[in-house]
Amino acid sequence: MPPSGKKMIVAGNWKMHTDAQSAAALAEQVAGRSAQEAGQVQVVLAPPFPFLAEAVRRARAADQENGRQCVIIAAQNCHEEEQGAYTGEVGVPMLRSIGVGACIVGHSERRQYYAETDAAVGRKVERLLQHGLMPIYCCGEGREDREAGRHREVVALQLRTALGAIPGHGLAKVVVAYEPVWAIGTGLTATPAQAQEMHAFIRAELRALAGEAATHIPILYGGSCKPDNAAGIFACPDINGGLIGGASLAAEPFMELVRMARHAQSPA
Ligand code: PGA
Repeated sequence: MPPSGKKMIVAGNWKMHTDAQSAAALAEQVAGRSAQEAGQVQVVLAPPFPFLAEAVRRARAADQENGRQCVIIAAQNCHEEEQGAYTGEVGVPMLRSIGVGACIVGHSERRQYYAETDAAVGRKVERLLQHGLMPIYCCGEGREDREAGRHREVVALQLRTALGAIPGHGLAKVVVAYEPVWAIGTGLTATPAQAQEMHAFIRAELRALAGEAATHIPILYGGSCKPDNAAGIFACPDINGGLIGGASLAAEPFMELVRMARHAQSPA
C-alpha cells in the first residue's frame, strides 16, 4: 500500500475513564473539531458503556451541523451471543439500537483480566459483522514473547484463531489493531521499524487468510502512541493510524494525532 493516500483511522479508547459530564463534553469537542480538522481521516471514539448513547447524540449533532459524518462512536467490548441470560453483558443488537457503529474486541486488557480467548473474540467479530458494526480486532504479543523472538508466531496464531473462519468479504470490513502488550500504558513504544515490520507481517497473514480482499484492511498501531512519537509510526506504509489510550482523554493531544494522521495520508 503506498504511503500517500492510504486509509487512516485514529481511534480513542477511553477505557474506564471519564464521567457523564466529561465524556459528553469530550465527544462533542472531538466531533466538532473533527469536522474541521480530520479531512479524510476516520475518527473513532470508544467511551465507556454508560456514556455511549450521549456520545452518539453529540456526534450526530456535529454531523448535522457540518453535513457529514464527523466521528464513529464505538463500544469497548460486546458479548458474542445475540441476547440471553448473561448478567452484566452487552449485546451487539443493543449497541446498534443506540447508533453505535463500531466495537473494540480482544483488547489485551480483556484477554489479561477477563480471560478472553481468540476463539471467543472471533465469535464477537462475526456477531458485529452480522449487525453491520465495524470490529476493531486487537492483537499483539507480550514482553516475554517479544524478548524470546516469538512475536510473529504469537500474533499469527491470534489472527488465525480469531479471524480464520471469517470469509474474505467479511474480513475486508474488519479493522485490526496491533498493540504490543509491553507498549500499552507503559510509555514504551515500538519503534517505527518494529511496528512496520509487524504490520507488514500482519498484512501478509491476512492476505493468506482472505486473499486480495484483505489487502486494504486498515491496521492500526496501539501502545503509548502520542504526538511526540506518532509521526514516524503513522508515516510507515503498512500503518493506517492508531488506537490511542492515554492520549485520547483530552481533545488535545487527540486532535493533534488526528492532524498527524491526515498529514501522513497526504504529505504535502
Ligand atoms: P495507551 O493505550 O495509548 O494508553 O498505551 C492503548 C490501548 O490500550 O489501546
